[in-house]
Amino acid sequence: MEFSGFDTRGYRTVDVRTGYGEWVESYEDTVEDVMDLALLERLVDPVWPEVERAADLGCGTGRTAKWLRDKGVARIDGVDITPEMLDLARRRGVHDRLVEGDAISTGLPSASYDLVICSLIDEHLDDLRPLYREARRLAAPNAAFVLATFHPHFIMTSGMPTHYTNAAGEDVAISTNVHLISDHANAGLQAGWRLAELQEGVIDDAWVAVKPKWAKFRDHPISAAYTWRTNG
Ligand SMILES: C[S@@+](CC[C@H](N)C(=O)[O-])C[C@H]1O[C@@H](n2cnc3c(N)ncnc32)[C@H](O)[C@@H]1O
Repeated sequence: MEFSGFDTRGYRTVDVRTGYGEWVESYEDTVEDVMDLALLERLVDPVWPEVERAADLGCGTGRTAKWLRDKGVARIDGVDITPEMLDLARRRGVHDRLVEGDAISTGLPSASYDLVICSLIDEHLDDLRPLYREARRLAAPNAAFVLATFHPHFIMTSGMPTHYTNAAGEDVAISTNVHLISDHANAGLQAGWRLAELQEGVIDDAWVAVKPKWAKFRDHPISAAYTWRTNG
């Protein structure tokens, strides 16, 4: 679904590579762990230390992979479309292999990963189906696909796109799409995944502590984490 109908900010919008290429230096100071890592913490499935090899789609600076390593995940390959984000990930050194490419056609080997993970990238895709299909291609037997995402309710209610402040002090939006829960459900089921777990994050005390202005959104859902499983 197009974001423009919900936009209350009217920021100039740039494509993903341009946006993250500029946001890269301040990205980790602005992204909040409570958005995605707090939800990953709540997932019962997968059991992180049992994961042997993960594919990290839209790996960015390696923030997700660092969290996975700390949980005991042994080997992680990362893919991202923005070279500047990959440069930071390379310096961080938590991936075994880093590839510049699109999350929907990664070039990584088929049926090779017992975890495919994708955190905070799908709002940049206009269609979820190719992402779910690529994750399924990468998945080894009995693999999990974990996807952490913005909740559609929050994007619609807040009218805020994914955005950053550039060096000139201008607020700039990165092209954003709204995906309904049913878009995820249908894309996952069509790609041959079975939904094993779904967690939703709401604006709670932890959120208000880091974003006091968002007290007005208290109890609104802001993010979600899905665990999908192969059927065999
Ligand atoms: C919000 S960051 C998330 C990075 C990391 N997963 C994290 O949680 O910190 C989004 C990342 O997705 C990447 N990205 C967006 N669309 C992509 C695509 N189609 N293929 C690969 N990477 C993409 C961007 O370059 C950016 O690094």
